[in-house]
Amino acid sequence: MPLDIIIGTQWGDEGKGRVVDLLSRQADYVARYNGGDNAGHTVTVGEKVFKLHLIPSGIIHPQTIAVIGNGVVINPQTLLSEIEMLHANGVEVNPQRLMISYAAHLITPGHLALDKAQEMSLGNTKIGTTLRGIGPTYTDKVSRSGIRVEQMLDLARFADTLQKHLEAVNQKLTQLFHTDPLESSPIIQQYLDYAQLIRPYIGDVSSLLHEALKSGKKVLAEGAQGSLLDLDHGTYPFVTSSYPTAAGALLGLGIGVGCEGRVIGVTKAFQTRVGSGPFPTEVFDETAQRLRGSGANPWDEYGTTTGRPRRVGWLDLVLLRYAIRINGVNALTMTKLDVLSGFEEVKICNAYRSQGKTYPNLPLGPADLSPFEPLYDSMPGWKEEIRGCRKWQDLPIAAQNFVNKVAELVQVPIHLVSVGPEREDVIEVPHP
Ligand code: GDP
Ligand code: IMO
Ligand code: MG
Repeated sequence: MPLDIIIGTQWGDEGKGRVVDLLSRQADYVARYNGGDNAGHTVTVGEKVFKLHLIPSGIIHPQTIAVIGNGVVINPQTLLSEIEMLHANGVEVNPQRLMISYAAHLITPGHLALDKAQEMSLGNTKIGTTLRGIGPTYTDKVSRSGIRVEQMLDLARFADTLQKHLEAVNQKLTQLFHTDPLESSPIIQQYLDYAQLIRPYIGDVSSLLHEALKSGKKVLAEGAQGSLLDLDHGTYPFVTSSYPTAAGALLGLGIGVGCEGRVIGVTKAFQTRVGSGPFPTEVFDETAQRLRGSGANPWDEYGTTTGRPRRVGWLDLVLLRYAIRINGVNALTMTKLDVLSGFEEVKICNAYRSQGKTYPNLPLGPADLSPFEPLYDSMPGWKEEIRGCRKWQDLPIAAQNFVNKVAELVQVPIHLVSVGPEREDVIEVPHP
């Protein structure tokens, strides 16, 4: 089947961007289906490091057509600066190569202000959002008062909608959150200017992909965030406001059920999280410093979008099995195996314990993980630096054992292992 869906199996930042880049060599279309510029997907090509927030990572390959689906929320300013950044780096972006769904929703400065005000009002119980206006934009969408990209096609109506939207926002800002209102007219003018630039890209993504799939073209769906941040299936309420899971790809692109081929889950060799919420295998000591890195390397665990240090911990297979189940993952890619080099022992959490009982799987979803203590399998580590390895046999036996053990315990093959951020830092895992 020509549709491959790439999803994060953790709390985001699994290395989806680099995996999409890798698989895009053989793709005709690459499609973002959820989230907005809360995402930060890194692709390293030689000296160049692309940090993409909205435009699918596959655009860097010249033969691909990139699409942004109806499930995405778009900050036009981010979109336009990303197009500029790509141009500046020699990547052609034009309406023949990028289509934006007429049904995607727009993020405005009003949504940004509400995100900030809501987080401030939550104090200690804040979600730790990226402050990109994601939650308020999806809230407007669900309450049927959102602003869709198609509104940019009728400027008079667009101005009127923006005016009404900003009035509603200001009411909330002043009366609910007791903060200053926004000045409407410069925002409206700015959005009318954005509309002129974005209009040529607007199209019917669902129809485009339908025709593509019908004629046997290869489509890659690029998930943002991760399964444990899914609005329904994640660690609620510490989640994002969209559907990063595989079902979100069909919903967020307007593709019918039945075209899916591989559902490729991307997992780091350990676990990370940005923002608040439960994290059973989190570590804080020297191990944490080693997993996170000092910030000296570009891949160290500091947020691509916000620069916040990421929380880190050992790989959690209870959660990975859960992610595999809710997505229908049938192939796994493991990233950042190189970061585990040098540990005397490496740990995998294969079950939780609570009140004397052992749980290999979650009894009631991941929202409340507080009763559980992780149970670890410990394995011998490896000392060798593995970033230069290109073949499975080049990997130290202990690293091979780690990868094999994870695949065996979750019952899904790991087909690729990545050992560095560069395109060529990747190893195909042989399967009999
Ligand atoms: P995404 O949001 O899932 O696309 O992931 P991010 O780009 O936010 O974070 C992943 C980080 O790890 C980026 O800096 C990547 O360049 C880097 N990276 C990806 N795969 C590997 C790997 O196998 N080894 C190392 N050292 N870095 C990697
Ligand atoms: P990529 O695509 C990691 C997290 C935020 C916060 C929660 C809600 O790069 O993997 P939001 O701004 O979405 O309302 O914040 O979700 N979050 C991410 N964490 N990677 C991401 O994207 C994320 N996008 C949102 O940190 O905890
Ligand atoms: Mg990221």
